[in-house]
Amino acid sequence: MHILFLTDTPARTERLTRSLNHLGTCLIIDVLDPDGCPSEIDPTDVRAVVTDVALARSEGIAGVRRYLDVVRVAKTPLLCLLQDASPRARAQTVALRATQVLSGNHLVERLALALNGTPLTETVRPAPTLKTGVAGAQACLTAMLDLGRAGEALEPAVVSAGAAYIENALRATDVRTWLEVVWQFDDATHQHCLLVAGLAAGFAQTLGLARSDCERLTQAALLHDVGKSQIPLAILNKPGRLDEAERQVMQTHPLVGYQMLRGHGYADEMLAVVRSHHEFLDGSGYPDKLEGRAIPDLVRLVTICDIYGALIERRPYKAPVEPARAYTILAGMEGKVDRELLRAFKPIAVSAGTADLRTSA
Ligand SMILES: [Fe+2]
Ligand SMILES: [Fe+2]
Repeated sequence: MHILFLTDTPARTERLTRSLNHLGTCLIIDVLDPDGCPSEIDPTDVRAVVTDVALARSEGIAGVRRYLDVVRVAKTPLLCLLQDASPRARAQTVALRATQVLSGNHLVERLALALNGTPLTETVRPAPTLKTGVAGAQACLTAMLDLGRAGEALEPAVVSAGAAYIENALRATDVRTWLEVVWQFDDATHQHCLLVAGLAAGFAQTLGLARSDCERLTQAALLHDVGKSQIPLAILNKPGRLDEAERQVMQTHPLVGYQMLRGHGYADEMLAVVRSHHEFLDGSGYPDKLEGRAIPDLVRLVTICDIYGALIERRPYKAPVEPARAYTILAGMEGKVDRELLRAFKPIAVSAGTADLRTSA
């Protein structure tokens, strides 16, 4: 069995592997070599994959993906060495679903330990659990917001990886359990995005949507407030109500998010969710005062999850609205949000909260 090293700097990796040969045969592949042929590697002969590539650069990422698509089967551990631990590089490790990320000092020693450690003895990847789902989604969301703050490109692969964690967790558990975990997050933006994405995943599954549509809705919900990453923290985390000037800044987040993502490989419907999730059917929303049919279904679905999520959240200046009452408030917004979808959302509101909704209209 080989340990496969994917590198963009073969000389460095060769030095690294000199002290690892006792662990097995180290096979070094230059991912930037255009003549390299992934199909010549037998995946069943690969014990672990290690990347030693600058993941902040797109050529390196493309090269790694070309090999991983062929050689990585579900049980193969993937260890990513980060020479540069920038948000973009960390985000890529999430998107690649790394088993472990190593950076900083004593890299060789820690790599030896990792290669000798428990991940390699696994024969089957553990089933998705709530804990791994939350941890994975949180890692993706952190990467998304860090990239946004740093003004760096956010690739769709990071969003889809985060949404997959949430989608799988919601298949293994229920909305109420997801919410109980999400309430433990201190950061309001993290809590809100994970909450809305969990509601959306549960909503999509309740609607009986096809798997790909569930994924689209969950991705859209996870992404919807990405523009907040560029809102000053003093406004974003203000422990009180916003004044008028601050509110105006806050209300730029849909357009800011849209501008961040445009031209980076996102489907138009995803861009529409980011830009238009604060629009209302009666034209009273923002930023474009869209009306009726100008608001696509995917946006309408996220808007319902977003409003409901915001109502049941606790803020320093606002007590959480009890879930049943939150649904009543939402139901009172007829004309602004989609009536049919609102009805369809009711089971989610029920599972998020108390039973007394079942007797209301
Ligand atoms: Fe928003
Ligand atoms: Fe939101």
